[in-house]
Amino acid sequence: MEQLLQQIESYKTEISAFEASTADAVENFRIKWLGTKGLVKAIMGEMKNVPNDRKKEFGQILNDFKLFAETKFQTLSENNSGLPTNDSELIDWSLPGDPVALGTRHPLSIVRNQIVSIFKRLGFAVAEGPEIEDDWHNFGAMNLPEDHPARDMQDTFYINQDPAWLLRTHTSSVQARVMEKQKPPIRVICPGRVYRNETISARAHCFFHQVEGLYIDENVSFADLKQTLYFFVQEMFGKDTKVRFRPSYFPFTEPSAEMDISCLICGGDGCNVCKHTGWVEILGSGMVHPKVLENFGIDPNKYTGFAFGMGVERICQLKYRVNDLRLYSQNDVRFLKQFTGAL
Ligand code: DAH
Repeated sequence: MEQLLQQIESYKTEISAFEASTADAVENFRIKWLGTKGLVKAIMGEMKNVPNDRKKEFGQILNDFKLFAETKFQTLSENNSGLPTNDSELIDWSLPGDPVALGTRHPLSIVRNQIVSIFKRLGFAVAEGPEIEDDWHNFGAMNLPEDHPARDMQDTFYINQDPAWLLRTHTSSVQARVMEKQKPPIRVICPGRVYRNETISARAHCFFHQVEGLYIDENVSFADLKQTLYFFVQEMFGKDTKVRFRPSYFPFTEPSAEMDISCLICGGDGCNVCKHTGWVEILGSGMVHPKVLENFGIDPNKYTGFAFGMGVERICQLKYRVNDLRLYSQNDVRFLKQFTGAL
């Protein structure tokens, strides 16, 4: 019987504490306590378990409880008029909504889009290729001999199950994909992510981004290459930026050159970024090697072409002075939200 008394007490506490802000809530109160399957009826049913000698006492207690619930309901009902029917009517639709946090474009996307838009103005189309590549498109077709150091296991991520497949180490693989399908004139740029097996640090990462360029037609010369890239630099970094070409070596171009621009960070005076030379390298380039053309049935006696490849992170570093490559992939909004307003 103690239990029954305790139950009644806790019900009473619950009923006293109940408040209704909608007409639906008042009705729910009635159903819960006073309905035909309500708790008051259920607890009245406990009378049959009360021993005869205490029936009088409990009859009184239970009747009081019933009255208690009914009185509460009456009070609730009296206050009911004017209450909204349900919760949705409690909402003030005229209040301004919660502001939606707008994201910003990733700095690498901003810079990639700028690069793409400059070359589009020169008539280049955008081409893309797969990040998981086969040996032929990434290396073989690009005239990388079997024993070339860039094929070394240390640089390339091979697919475990089948080493004929790898993660592309450069976007030059997309050159191969394009030449396979399309015959000259070809004028494409190929933005994309590339992978190398490097220890992650401020200056190296296991993935980064490149934009590749390829231009093949009759009578394409090294002068076209220089003029195109010079135009790109002026558009990207401003009219005062100087460029210089240095002879270099790439298996897929002959002759090859690397292009430097005057250091934007120190204006050429010398700083950490340009290693105190006043110049920073931004891309590799050259005239497409005749063997590469032959690999795709393009006659090197009729057609010539130039190609180039640049790192998006490097360009971004120069434009926005980001000095740690890891920042690009850490997804820290404090970093990311600084790059706004562009493309
Ligand atoms: N594939 C080279 C790299 O990843 C970059 C490059 C150099 C691309 C010269 C080219 C080129 O198309 O002509 O370092």
